[in-house]
Amino acid sequence: MDQYLSSKFIRVCLPLVLLSVVVNGKTRNGVVFNVKDFGAVANGLTNDTEAFDAAWKEACAVKGNATLRIPEGTYMVGPIMFEGPCNGFMEVQLKGLLLAPTNLSVFYPEYSRNWIEFRHLNNLLVHGGGILDGQGYSAWPSHHLLQLPYSLGFNKVINGAIRGISLVNSKNLHMEIFACQNFSVKSLTISAPQHSPNTDGIHIGRSTNITVKDTIIGDGDDCIAILQGSTSVIISNVMCGPGHGISVGSLGGRPREGDVVGLTVKNCTFTGTDNGLRIKTWQSSPSRSFVSDVLFQNILMRNVSNPIIIDQHYCPHGNCNPSTPSKVKISRVQFDNIAGTYRNPVAVKLVCSEDYPCSDVGLGDIDLEYIGDSKPEPNSCVNVQGYSNGNVKPASCI
Ligand SMILES: *[C@@H]1O[C@H](CO)[C@@H](O)[C@H](O)[C@H]1NC(C)=O
Ligand SMILES: *[C@@H]1O[C@H](CO)[C@@H](O)[C@H](O)[C@H]1NC(C)=O
Ligand SMILES: *[C@@H]1O[C@H](CO)[C@@H](O)[C@H](O)[C@H]1NC(C)=O
Ligand SMILES: *[C@@H]1O[C@H](CO)[C@@H](O)[C@H](O)[C@H]1NC(C)=O
Ligand SMILES: *[C@@H]1O[C@H](CO)[C@@H](O)[C@H](O)[C@H]1NC(C)=O
Ligand SMILES: *[C@@H]1O[C@H](CO)[C@@H](O)[C@H](O)[C@H]1NC(C)=O
Ligand SMILES: *[C@@H]1O[C@H](CO)[C@@H](O)[C@H](O)[C@H]1NC(C)=O
Repeated sequence: MDQYLSSKFIRVCLPLVLLSVVVNGKTRNGVVFNVKDFGAVANGLTNDTEAFDAAWKEACAVKGNATLRIPEGTYMVGPIMFEGPCNGFMEVQLKGLLLAPTNLSVFYPEYSRNWIEFRHLNNLLVHGGGILDGQGYSAWPSHHLLQLPYSLGFNKVINGAIRGISLVNSKNLHMEIFACQNFSVKSLTISAPQHSPNTDGIHIGRSTNITVKDTIIGDGDDCIAILQGSTSVIISNVMCGPGHGISVGSLGGRPREGDVVGLTVKNCTFTGTDNGLRIKTWQSSPSRSFVSDVLFQNILMRNVSNPIIIDQHYCPHGNCNPSTPSKVKISRVQFDNIAGTYRNPVAVKLVCSEDYPCSDVGLGDIDLEYIGDSKPEPNSCVNVQGYSNGNVKPASCI
């Protein structure tokens, strides 16, 4: 290119190239749809739902990849459904702060289970450092009168991911992953006050190949709950607390539940939680199901009430028939390298079903120190078959 051509290129072509980026909103990853171009006001008061809806519908209709951009700013939206199928890979760049409506009537009578839902999508990424504020404070007092909406739901999303987003003060649970496959969660921050009702961090149900990592969760209920029908779930480097810890279940509450097979919880820390690692199944479950191949490894407990629990007599309302034991069979569960401090008298409590005893339960390298106010009691095992290896302190009951 000679002098003339190159300067002509800079004067004529480069601006055209730059202009086309702005006008067509093309990025490497596809066409960009900015909610502000669709009328979002971002003053935190005006209902911006229709702008979000319109931007999503156009993005989803693109014959290829598309990006929904939510720039910095405060948006009052919802309930809102980002529904597919779309044609290409959908990227949601969320930099703004989204506020949930405080008027509960907008979630009824056509009940929306989720404030924000992504549904029927294949290839989705939600990221960008933004915040979802469920504005739960005014709703929490009604939690036993109404089924309150969850903040964020992924329903039938395949090959999806969310990372680098904060969720605060949901009205009910913060995030549900339901009927998803190949879904990854990374670098989230979830927070609600310790005494807020039902503000669980993440629920995973009927899903396969789900990973959750590098995430911080403090709330008023479970940190992460793995529910029926979930297989191949890996949770690593998650910090829980306050809250109720990581829980498998409750399971066996309804007929024809799916099994929980293949769960790894690794390199996690629990601080000031009620429970640490827990598997709970209802006392009089209506039909059979299985929990198997579960590994809890490299876990630090700090001031946790009940660090290790299997409870197959779960019956919070006391209305179960004690002569019909749980039909959930638990096998191949390993607790390995669990250390730290605990507050209730029993560190390890494994209470399994009379009809379907737990089998192949392993305790290895447990080092838990009592810091509670009364007298520590020995670990307790009921209907458990298994093994222990390495040092187990307090002494193993298996
Ligand atoms: C669509 O996005 C995916 C994921 O980022 C990428 O692998 C693929 O190359 C993109 N396709 C096009 C046509 O840009
Ligand atoms: C709450 O929402 C309902 C249903 O949309 C509406 O009829 C009502 O006026 C709203 N209440 C307030 C205080 O905005
Ligand atoms: C916002 O607008 C959407 C769509 O019109 C509506 O469904 C929703 O109830 C509105 N939200 C509030 C808080 O009024
Ligand atoms: C899950 O990911 C694997 C590996 O990328 C892929 O082979 C498989 O098809 C994916 N599953 C679905 C349902 O897309
Ligand atoms: C599980 O999903 C991840 C994406 O989250 C994918 O990279 C991986 O290949 C999948 N594994 C299998 C066995 O499908
Ligand atoms: C857990 O921590 C160990 C030691 O720091 C590290 O080698 C391993 O990769 C970590 N595993 C996961 C799944 O984070
Ligand atoms: C342990 O947790 C309890 C209850 O949350 C709290 O009152 C106490 O101060 C904590 N102790 C330490 C040493 O953190």
